[in-house]
Amino acid sequence: MKVLVIGGGGREHAIVDALSRSPQVEKIYCAPGNAGIARQAECVAIRETEVERLRDFAAERGIGLTVVGPEVALAAGVVDCFRAAGLRIFGPTKAAARIESSKEFAKRLMAKYAIPTAGFRAFNDYAGALAYVQGRPLPAVLKYDGLAAGKGVVIARTMAEAEAALRDMLLDDKFGEGKVVVEDYLEGPEFSFMCFVSGHKVWPMALAQDHKRAYDGDEGPNTGGMGAYSPLPFVTAEDERYALEKIMQPVADAMIAEGCPFEGVLYGGLMKTARGIEVIEFNARFGDPETEVVLPRLKSDIVDIFCAVAEGRDTQLEWHDFAALGIVLASKGYPGDYEKGHEIKGLDRVEGAVYHMGTRADGGRILTNGGRVLFVVGKGRDLAEARRNALADVARIDCDNLFHRTDIGHRAFDDLER
Ligand code: AMP
Ligand code: GLY
Repeated sequence: MKVLVIGGGGREHAIVDALSRSPQVEKIYCAPGNAGIARQAECVAIRETEVERLRDFAAERGIGLTVVGPEVALAAGVVDCFRAAGLRIFGPTKAAARIESSKEFAKRLMAKYAIPTAGFRAFNDYAGALAYVQGRPLPAVLKYDGLAAGKGVVIARTMAEAEAALRDMLLDDKFGEGKVVVEDYLEGPEFSFMCFVSGHKVWPMALAQDHKRAYDGDEGPNTGGMGAYSPLPFVTAEDERYALEKIMQPVADAMIAEGCPFEGVLYGGLMKTARGIEVIEFNARFGDPETEVVLPRLKSDIVDIFCAVAEGRDTQLEWHDFAALGIVLASKGYPGDYEKGHEIKGLDRVEGAVYHMGTRADGGRILTNGGRVLFVVGKGRDLAEARRNALADVARIDCDNLFHRTDIGHRAFDDLER
């Protein structure tokens, strides 16, 4: 089978890597891909949102399966477009992807089907939102309703911060015209529960945890994620069963009842609070960088899973026992301004896996080409060994403009020490 992967980051590199382990795959294309992906797939210069060009490419090349990485492609209607042309594609329709693209849709769905989540109100006027926030305890959680690349959420600890954020979102339309969802503040460790979903069928993946802050000790600004690991010692089998039975399965069922059945990866961003597990957000796709530590642990043939989901057939997921822990190497300055075009050396000395997040080839050289540049994954019998292996590989990579966190997995290590 010929397979096309849409996207060009670390997540897509991990998907390409998993596909390359399948004996059913004859050739992998990736659009647009990156310098690392180019070693395992043929990169095609089509952007993620050019859905008609992607469809025409898939039809002309006889692609048997297309896998969608990023949300922007889903929101652009790539799945609807491929389906209309009779092409097999893995991912939710635009209507089903609203569970990620519209916070209001997601919150209303959760309220209607009694899925545990923070209380909320949605507003499109500044005065109404401000009055509501003034009558509630701080901190206030303010979420711009739309795709804001992780920057649309503000945890306001003072009324002045809340006012400024509401002003940006509702008066100055900094992110575009849209609504704001005001949520109650929840506390506890967060984790990512990704499930393959096909209508009523839900297959859970191994759990992972992302690290959103830029610096060690969870300090500094929010980022797209600075590292991840799997499995998670602080989430019990009981917690996992609860999340599956009270959250993921009811949501899959609710999407059918709402007339937009979900097919693809449903990502639950969950929090283990004092009163139980609650939903922070849903995504309609593989998480990044969680996918880069979860898929290496998948023992089953991923093509079987993608096809079973697309056809609504039964399948089984098997997992390796080893732990995986990954560290992002980011450009200095990220998530603020940063330079591109610095040469990266030593990649051939790495012993584990390196997924490229933002790189570009220049002749035989590999150059930095984004905020998050590389994702180095260590494997081990346990998380401690996986982290040692990942850090050893990070030290083998030579580039003068990268930084990384050294404490990925700290929650798991603190738990193990206790
Ligand atoms: P989201 O884009 O909805 O995942 O929000 C980004 C981050 O903001 C989450 O990963 C949480 O750390 C934090 N956050 C979102 N909603 C809440 C909430 N209701 N209470 C506390 N923290 C939250
Ligand atoms: N790691 C968070 C996300 O993929 O949205």
